[in-house]
Amino acid sequence: MHEFRSVDDLLTHLLALSEMPSVECDRFTELNHGLQTAALLREEHPDDLELQVAGLLHDVAHPWDGPGQPRHATMGADAVRGLLGVRVANLIQAHVPAKRYLVATRPEYFALLSDDSVMTLAAQGGPMDAVEVAEFETDPDHMAMVALRIADDGAKVVGAKVTGLEFWVPIIQSVAAIHA
Ligand SMILES: [Fe+2]
Repeated sequence: MHEFRSVDDLLTHLLALSEMPSVECDRFTELNHGLQTAALLREEHPDDLELQVAGLLHDVAHPWDGPGQPRHATMGADAVRGLLGVRVANLIQAHVPAKRYLVATRPEYFALLSDDSVMTLAAQGGPMDAVEVAEFETDPDHMAMVALRIADDGAKVVGAKVTGLEFWVPIIQSVAAIHA
């Protein structure tokens, strides 16, 4: 299991992601996709630093997973839990279930999905059934999970100008400090 031991350890990984094309689109990097996600969440939820950081980091496990990325959400959550806490980990873990939830509950959502996200949906379990939807909604943080997923889907803009990683370093440090 990959696990970040320190903020520096995490930043080293993020710098590697700045050299790596996104698994979804080779016209932006993995880091750029995370930065776009974080920026969208900062606009919508300016006071929720943990949600913003989870958005930045939701796909950190892409380089560790295989074709179709079946385990990247869980691997990413496991990697950050010790450093950034349970909530950031849970938000990262939920970005795949949140897609399954949104497809089941918002008919207009499916059209927003990238081709890649549509392709992986079946392997991820397809739309949630009614029991799964009800269970998902019992999580008191499920609206933040949905917000992260919607930002994720909107964060695939080629050539997007985004705030750089240096802006996020003190924010990551402040979230880590809470859990130190
Ligand atoms: Fe993503």
